[in-house]
Amino acid sequence: MNSMNAYGSLCAEFYDLDKPSAPVDALAFYVDRARKSGGRVLEPMCGSGRFLLPMSLAGFSVDGVDSSLPMLAACSARAHRLGVEVRVFQQDLASLALPHRYSMAFIPSGSICLITDESELQLALLRLRAHLEPGAALLLEIVSDDIELTSPAELETRVVTCTDGSSITYTCVASRVASAELLCFSGTYTKRAGYRVVETETEELVLRPYAPSRLMAMLADCGFTVAKAADESDLTFLANSGCTLIEAIADA
Ligand SMILES: C[S@@+](CC[C@H](N)C(=O)[O-])C[C@H]1O[C@@H](n2cnc3c(N)ncnc32)[C@H](O)[C@@H]1O
Repeated sequence: MNSMNAYGSLCAEFYDLDKPSAPVDALAFYVDRARKSGGRVLEPMCGSGRFLLPMSLAGFSVDGVDSSLPMLAACSARAHRLGVEVRVFQQDLASLALPHRYSMAFIPSGSICLITDESELQLALLRLRAHLEPGAALLLEIVSDDIELTSPAELETRVVTCTDGSSITYTCVASRVASAELLCFSGTYTKRAGYRVVETETEELVLRPYAPSRLMAMLADCGFTVAKAADESDLTFLANSGCTLIEAIADA
């Protein structure tokens, strides 16, 4: 089970202001793949919908899944504002149970690496396979395992302004833990109205940058044939993302 202390309500509010839209070239890539799939698409770990919503607006049938209620609530609120209907489910990928099968699924932005436990990832891949039609593509962006992180820690601070004039500051300390296999981000969101602190939220985000060969072996064990691994030399939208794209095809 996903037991992260992450993606709470203040994070969701910050996320939408900090990353209001998907990178244009990445979105164009997934739109093109959705068109080629010719059917219903699933975006697991959809968050607040920066990929799902424009794809739905463009007329694709895209369902979303996420374990965070605040991220899904933000997604539904944005959908309402845009006048588009979306179907999202609050579920953990390791126990995914949806009423449909899909002709494509995609997880952008390295999110799959938030599942840091291999047995949980295996369950998630098996549940994804169970929801895909034979021949359907599963597109996974994984955080490259050679990602550089200044040791022992890196400090980051970002500030966004809310529509009511208040601000949210995100501060984060990043570190490598457990023999450098995991990247840990300890963050705090602080909402201020003027100089007054009105809300705070802490977050412990852990990422596991899987080696492409390891993920490909796991996919093969879970009923997929790995078609290819692509990096920024194949797909320009991956440049500076620190991610590799793994494409796997659901076996018959
Ligand atoms: C970085 S956000 C990415 C959202 C979206 N794909 C984007 O690019 O904006 C990662 C999302 O994965 C969700 N998540 C993490 N672990 C999960 C799990 N085991 N099952 C379902 N969702 C999960 C989080 O709640 C969060 O909304």
